[in-house]
Amino acid sequence: MKSAIYPGSFDPVTLGHLDIIKRSATLCDELIVGVLNNSTKTPLFSVDERVNMLKEVTKDIPNVKVMSFSGLLVDFARQQNVQVIIRGLRAVTDFEYELALSQTNHAINSDVDTLFLTTSIEFSYLSSSMVKEIAMYGGDISKFVPTPVIDRMYAKYHG
Ligand code: PNS
Repeated sequence: MKSAIYPGSFDPVTLGHLDIIKRSATLCDELIVGVLNNSTKTPLFSVDERVNMLKEVTKDIPNVKVMSFSGLLVDFARQQNVQVIIRGLRAVTDFEYELALSQTNHAINSDVDTLFLTTSIEFSYLSSSMVKEIAMYGGDISKFVPTPVIDRMYAKYHG
């Protein structure tokens, strides 16, 4: 595969995301990690902070490029001349949303298709929102997020 986009909110990037990034980077020449910058969501981290954390944790993977995008994912894919979107599937609970997302994207731009990677078992329960809740109450998040993200999360909640 020539190129692919792995899109998401990445608020923040977790070890589950990083696992998908590493595995998909071996499947294509260039992997673009697309960080959503839409104003309807109020993220914990600004888009620049999310992009910078992703750049830091992927700096040793030469064919990964981190970019932010606004608007529709399929428009971003078209701008970048990419036809493949990668998404991770954790459990059956993800399936309905991911199916609708993939079919909607294909309906708006039939050049674009979505490929799903199942998450590695050790990350199958992991989500950014649960990690945020653990950090908010001062719990240990070191098993869930890359090292550079740990302090930044506690700083957000506990100063
Ligand atoms: O990490 P997430 O929040 O599950 O990622 C969701 C994401 C960013 C892939 C999705 O919300 C998205 O692509 N948003 C951009 C707007 C868009 O194209 N929506 C799909 C058609 S309605």
